[in-house]
Amino acid sequence: MDNLIEVNDLHYSYGTRKVLKGINLTIPRGKIVGIMGASGSGKSTLLRHFSGQLRPTRGSVKFMGKVIHDLSIDELYKTRLQMGMMFQVSGLFTDLSVYDNLAFPLREHTNLPEELIHDLVLMKLHAVGLRNARKLMPSELSGGMERRVALARATIADPALIIYDEPFAGLDPISLNTIANLIRKLNDALDVTSVVVTYDLAESLKIVDYIYFIHDGIVVAKGDVGEMINSQDPFVWQFIHARPDGPIAFQYPGPPYPDDLNVKP
Ligand SMILES: Nc1ncnc2c1ncn2[C@@H]1O[C@H](COP(=O)(O)OP(=O)(O)OP(=O)(O)O)[C@@H](O)[C@H]1O
Ligand SMILES: [Mg+2]
Repeated sequence: MDNLIEVNDLHYSYGTRKVLKGINLTIPRGKIVGIMGASGSGKSTLLRHFSGQLRPTRGSVKFMGKVIHDLSIDELYKTRLQMGMMFQVSGLFTDLSVYDNLAFPLREHTNLPEELIHDLVLMKLHAVGLRNARKLMPSELSGGMERRVALARATIADPALIIYDEPFAGLDPISLNTIANLIRKLNDALDVTSVVVTYDLAESLKIVDYIYFIHDGIVVAKGDVGEMINSQDPFVWQFIHARPDGPIAFQYPGPPYPDDLNVKP
């Protein structure tokens, strides 16, 4: 099986609000796939289907050939152990040290002896350059360090898939570059598959293998980095050139502005 994930005609609505309207995409094993789209286009909503937090209104998401929303609770938990996740906010436990933040998932979900947990934690921290920061508390970390700890924690149980939701948000250019390079390095060294959701096109173009653009609930463009850079597609063009005007609207959808005003212009 060459695809770790297969998304087929995925629809999802929050109440009456349709967010995903027929997404089709595949995530090939061993690759880094970027998912891009404007704020509110449904990227995080899509990811929540990978981990089975949301159930499709229509269509399906398969992970390693199995339909996620058909799994029993037990199977779902086992499947989730094969997914490492790093979210928009780092989500570290503030009252646990860096070391214990990484050890936590292993203590919780495995019967590994403490000595082995120790070495695994140090190995993962070493990979992100923070082995010697293991005694620090999250409040003592810079934003970039915090992200690196979250990254190390996402890899702790040797997952098959690592999901990154906006891994670059709020980082200075140097930290951002470090995180981007780490995502590539970890993907190749650990032989995993990665999904990176971001609107930081410049940075992600340096590390991803393949890109999907999402707009208004569907995939509007896809291709490898070269194809995207040379694309004449108006969505891709607006994104790559960071233009405020184009098919991607700035306003959350709704009635026209004048309709909302009491004094009509
Ligand atoms: N729990 C929820 N309940 C209702 N509507 C939601 C919920 N979560 C998201 N939405 C709506 O779904 C749409 C897509 O949200 P989502 O978080 O998937 O976007 P996104 O592409 O990840 O955006 P961003 O880049 O800003 O993180 C938005 O219009 C949002 O208002
Ligand atoms: Mg999001």
